[in-house]
Amino acid sequence: MSDQIRPPVYSSASKWIHWLTALCVLMIIPGGILMTHMEEGPLQDQIYDLHRSFGVVVFILAVTRVAARKAFGTPAPVEALTPLERRASVAVHHSLLTLIFVMPILGVVMTSFYGDGVSVFGLFTLPQMFAKKEPVYDVLAAIHGWLGYLMAALILSHFGGAIMHTFIKRDGVLQRMLPAPRKGQV
Ligand code: HEM
Repeated sequence: MSDQIRPPVYSSASKWIHWLTALCVLMIIPGGILMTHMEEGPLQDQIYDLHRSFGVVVFILAVTRVAARKAFGTPAPVEALTPLERRASVAVHHSLLTLIFVMPILGVVMTSFYGDGVSVFGLFTLPQMFAKKEPVYDVLAAIHGWLGYLMAALILSHFGGAIMHTFIKRDGVLQRMLPAPRKGQV
């Protein structure tokens, strides 16, 4: 869009949202795999609660991210990218952006079919929206699981891209998402 705001680097709001989302997702994915493969008991219940709570935080961050993009814009694609690299990075970014909305919604919906609401850090509870139907839960939980593994693969390629740009191409792509140097720092 021609009237889109194009700052040279991401806004502070976008940077905060990006790194907080990364932190949450890096706990949620291993936590999700761990909790589904461990013995039943109070520890498993706690990890489930944390997984769901941080999942809701990711959704809130995703909504805030869209608002920040609209308000402050995003930098233009780096010119040094080849057309193939640009297509690949857009595909990975859009898939990740879609998944940070889809995964929490799927999680809340499937928990409802399991017969539960979602307590968020014990602070408030999202109510159960649908009547309990375990066969529906089983299908949605399988989809949630596979999308979780897809998300892990996308994050690895996103991370690989950042490493390549920083250490091989040295084209400053990662710097656009890092905290701005303080005055006096290079
Ligand atoms: C960005 C957000 C989320 C990500 C990336 C994510 C990822 C995952 C992963 C990787 C697993 C393990 C799958 C497996 O090994 O089979 C899992 C399981 C699970 N997640 Fe999430 N999750 C997210 C949000 C949520 C939310 C918000 C809820 C509920 C409110 C939720 C509820 C569950 C449940 C109940 C399971 C166990 C499914 C089963 O019975 O197999 N998740 N999630």
